[in-house]
Amino acid sequence: MSAMYQGSCVRVQSLDNGFVELCFDRQGDVINKLDRQTMTQLAEAVAAIAATKALRGVLITSAKDVFIVGADITEFGESFKLPAAELIANNMRSNDALLAIEALSVPSVVAINGFALGGGLELALSGDYRVMSDAAQIGLPEVKLGLFPGLGGTVRLARIAGAAVAIDWVAGGAPSKAPAALAAGVVDATAAPDQLRATALAKLAEAAAGHEWQQRRAVKAAALPLSQDEVKTLFEQARATVARRSAPHQPAALAAVELMEACAPHGGRKAIQMEAEAFAKIAKTQAAASLVQIFLNDQLLKKKFKAYAKAAAPTRHAAVLGAGIMGGGIAYTSALRGTPVRMKDIQQKQLDLGVSEAQKLLAKQVKNGRLKQEKADAIVGTITPQLDYSGFDGVDVVVEAVVENLKVKHAVLAEVEGVVGAETVIASNTSSLRIDDLAASLQRPQNFVGMHFFNPVPSMPLVEVIRGAKTGDAAVAKIVGYGVAMGKTPIVVKDGPGFLVNRIVTPYMQAFGQLVAAGADFQKIDAAMEKFGWPMGPAYLNDVIGMDTGIHVAQIITAGFPGHMPVTWRDPLQAMVDRQRYGQKNGIGFYRYETDPAGKPKRTVADDSYELLKTVQPDGVREFSDAEIVERMMLAMINEAVRCLDEQIVETAPELDMALMLGLGLPQYLGGALKYADWLGLERVLAWSERYAALGPQWVAPQRLRDMAAAGRTFY
Ligand SMILES: NC(=O)c1ccc[n+]([C@@H]2O[C@H](COP(=O)([O-])OP(=O)(O)OC[C@H]3O[C@@H](n4cnc5c(N)ncnc54)[C@H](O)[C@@H]3O)[C@@H](O)[C@H]2O)c1
Repeated sequence: MSAMYQGSCVRVQSLDNGFVELCFDRQGDVINKLDRQTMTQLAEAVAAIAATKALRGVLITSAKDVFIVGADITEFGESFKLPAAELIANNMRSNDALLAIEALSVPSVVAINGFALGGGLELALSGDYRVMSDAAQIGLPEVKLGLFPGLGGTVRLARIAGAAVAIDWVAGGAPSKAPAALAAGVVDATAAPDQLRATALAKLAEAAAGHEWQQRRAVKAAALPLSQDEVKTLFEQARATVARRSAPHQPAALAAVELMEACAPHGGRKAIQMEAEAFAKIAKTQAAASLVQIFLNDQLLKKKFKAYAKAAAPTRHAAVLGAGIMGGGIAYTSALRGTPVRMKDIQQKQLDLGVSEAQKLLAKQVKNGRLKQEKADAIVGTITPQLDYSGFDGVDVVVEAVVENLKVKHAVLAEVEGVVGAETVIASNTSSLRIDDLAASLQRPQNFVGMHFFNPVPSMPLVEVIRGAKTGDAAVAKIVGYGVAMGKTPIVVKDGPGFLVNRIVTPYMQAFGQLVAAGADFQKIDAAMEKFGWPMGPAYLNDVIGMDTGIHVAQIITAGFPGHMPVTWRDPLQAMVDRQRYGQKNGIGFYRYETDPAGKPKRTVADDSYELLKTVQPDGVREFSDAEIVERMMLAMINEAVRCLDEQIVETAPELDMALMLGLGLPQYLGGALKYADWLGLERVLAWSERYAALGPQWVAPQRLRDMAAAGRTFY
């Protein structure tokens, strides 16, 4: 074998009998990706192949465990900022490298040994045949980044596997294993990993001996083999389904379907050019900017977790104090994810409830086929309910989740410190007390830290890890590691009223209260915020949380920031609580709740709410536009997010935004409060702030925001 082309990411070497191998083998990395450098080398490599004499066929392979994982997402930010014409021209340069594979005078076979995702699969589609390892997975996940394929994938897949498959793969974004990919006609054969190369070479020899590969190329370069009516029917249905399934303000999947329809009468470079033009548009949407950023933020968090993992040994055995709503959920999640846990309470009935709740959740998983009964039994067996502290000397982490009362917590924390080992980390799940205040009762405050879960624990992905003034690095690292082991995303924050997420949501909820007091219709506010993308409007959210709980936490946080969170209006939440209208939990809040036949609370209009709210509306009612509602609510949130970043409550903008996304369910297309501010442009945020500053300090832009705007800076 001799090298015909050698780059740092791609090489070409000749095999026997006039065959050559084009191999992706990125030096100094464990994966292959289609970054700019690789695309340049690919074009050069294909040119080298085209110039080869007595050529009979090309085998396309990877020397890594993966085939190609896709484009280089870290390049997207800069690339998507380019003017559309430049973005299209760059894309077409990459496309030409793939078209050059299809223009070779000999057939090509792609051996897909591992992940071929996004651009990786698009490259594979430019080959004439695909053989896929049973160990591989392929797919077009671009919609998850607010995009669709931009390297000819929408065009080629529809012509290789049919429009229905292409719509499904492109709009759904799910990866497929070998049998499904074969059944869908996306690959031509599958093989055991150790047979892949031989199978692909045999396919190549067979192809080189015939002419079928030329017909395959003609199909790819042609219009879809469907009548106009067939196209119309198929795509009409697809548009309806995809529109229904799309998350709010995420247009990529629908745009991809529309693109595939528009490309139906075309093929080859013309259709690919249409795709590149549509891609340049979708790449500039807010959803693409945010979803790409979320992906990068996620990578950053994973890197941080790795660093923490180096600083503390994994938790082998944990304990939870309190078997209530939170303690029970924490014990269940710990056990489910493989960390055995002792669960202590002072009441046997609470222990029984905690265990039976865990059993119920596990039974559900068994019923759904996600867990075997024996495994479920084994998991329950790793939860040890107890009324005393036996065995606590053997645990390395204790999570305190007893009632929210400083005195009780002081007593409980001091007690448990006396029975655990000197290295054991004690974490409190308090939602409103200060970590530093709680630490006052402890001999070893360096081993004490906050671990703030969200309700319901099994399904809420965020955990705030709160570093008190005396908390040691080892304790933080230990709890981050335990959070990751529980399948959560821990974000490290500094101690302070409301920590991070509850603090930022407070002015947002205040903005809701202020709007209602100023005469806005709460149902109109809910509708405007839901249209904006929130899963629930603020009135409904208050009902779900329970207004007595919400107001209690809000009051503590408000008291902690008298300077910028004063409530100068009559609080509608207080008016609700005063009349025992707590929300879903007692059937009446802003809305009325009835239990439907399936046992789920059903929301209906409570007309008497309007009568009640009159008591907090001194100037009566008035109309607010949707835009004004959104601006007033979101500005209060952005301002508080900026203050938190400024005070270093959290280290970085990505961590702040991820905490909000995971803790509050902020709409995905926003990417977080700070990403949203960047998208709006800080000048525009300042303009809103000027418009609404008279409402109160919650709406006044913090100095940091003004400074950043003046300097033309952004959060990302
Ligand atoms: N409920 C939420 O939404 C939520 C969210 C985040 C954090 N938190 C925090 O979690 C903690 C627990 O809240 P919850 O909602 O689970 O309360 P809960 O009332 O459901 O449970 C508290 C449990 O603690 C037990 N307990 C009381 N004293 C004890 C002691 N000395 N030793 C052991 N157990 C004792 C009680 O018997 C009860 O089972 C609180 O600090 C709360 O602020 C709650």
